[in-house]
Amino acid sequence: MSGPLVLGIESSCDETGVGIVRGHELLANEVASSVEQHVRFGGVVPEVASRAHLQAIVPALRRACATADIDLSEVDAIAVTAGPGLMGALVVGLSAAKALAVALNRPLYGVNHLVGHVAVDVLDHGPLPQPCAALLVSGGHTSLLAVNSITSDITELGATIDDAAGEAYDKVARLLGLSYPGGPVIDRVAAAGDPRAIAFPRGLTATKDLAKHRFDYSFSGLKTAVSRWVEIRRRDGLEVPMADVAASFQEAVCDVLTAKAVDACEHLGVDTLLIGGGVAANSRLRALLEERTAERGITLRRPRPALCTDNGAMIAVLGSEVVGAGLRPSSLELGANPGLPVSTVLVGADRNGR
Ligand code: KG4
Ligand code: ZN
Repeated sequence: MSGPLVLGIESSCDETGVGIVRGHELLANEVASSVEQHVRFGGVVPEVASRAHLQAIVPALRRACATADIDLSEVDAIAVTAGPGLMGALVVGLSAAKALAVALNRPLYGVNHLVGHVAVDVLDHGPLPQPCAALLVSGGHTSLLAVNSITSDITELGATIDDAAGEAYDKVARLLGLSYPGGPVIDRVAAAGDPRAIAFPRGLTATKDLAKHRFDYSFSGLKTAVSRWVEIRRRDGLEVPMADVAASFQEAVCDVLTAKAVDACEHLGVDTLLIGGGVAANSRLRALLEERTAERGITLRRPRPALCTDNGAMIAVLGSEVVGAGLRPSSLELGANPGLPVSTVLVGADRNGR
């Protein structure tokens, strides 16, 4: 047993997460999701999510302590998502974290949710080789990152210029009449389909686009192409082959994500690719990355699927890294930042040294 005992709180979207780690060891990861309450709206309703966090946070905290078999008084530091995310949702987790920091007299670290997605693999596969490249694919973000230091030096090589990958999955699921969130459903339906059945477009891969957008993504044209294809079938009174549409759409997404991620590794001259975010749980993305990284001698680091989607453990382990790097805690006046850029790992260091 080594390293600080860190409690992490996540509340940026529709999952209330409380994780507890000791160094790089995962002790508890309690997640309460309000997804059921959003299904009939086809997407997350911010106010509903905030109310659900308020109800779920204390029970999740209690369960996490029980699972980790620790008393709150043993905790060395509190880490919390300070952004990006939904304002009202972030505020619930931040308030809980501040209350704990004050009551326990422990340092508070307001950290970046996106960097948490990238850091979480440390729990499964140990310290990160740095520098490395990271493919971040979530519901709200899709980026290629150069990770020189997970606590202090992350730069964005490129990002989506329109929809995020997860957003594309959610929108395509909706137009196919499948339930929300769309990613896991399309992943399942696609398993029975032919990925080569329909040639959907690969955004920003034409030579003229690569000059300006080598590491950027675009998924809105793909979504429109799927929509048009389905519309024409329906107009002509033909059956829509769901599995083939899902598999062909998924192949288009994963083909581009993978090709550009491998290109980023070669551009940076790094031999490790890290993946994170909800879409990193996708079975085809994981398989295709495995294949293409192996061909080029790149080591692929993929967290187990349960750690890819939002959770508190990713925030706790990023907190543990930040503590380990000796960075100063955040001020207790720390605010939520819904648009926090991925390059800001830790928010609002306390100028008075706390
Ligand atoms: O990272 P995450 O849990 O939340 C955000 O920070 O956005 O990502 C949620 C996204 C949703 O769009 C969901 O449809 C997608 O991740 N997702 C998946 C899979 N599981 C979750 N997408 C594709 N395949 C999956 N298996
Ligand atoms: Zn996320």
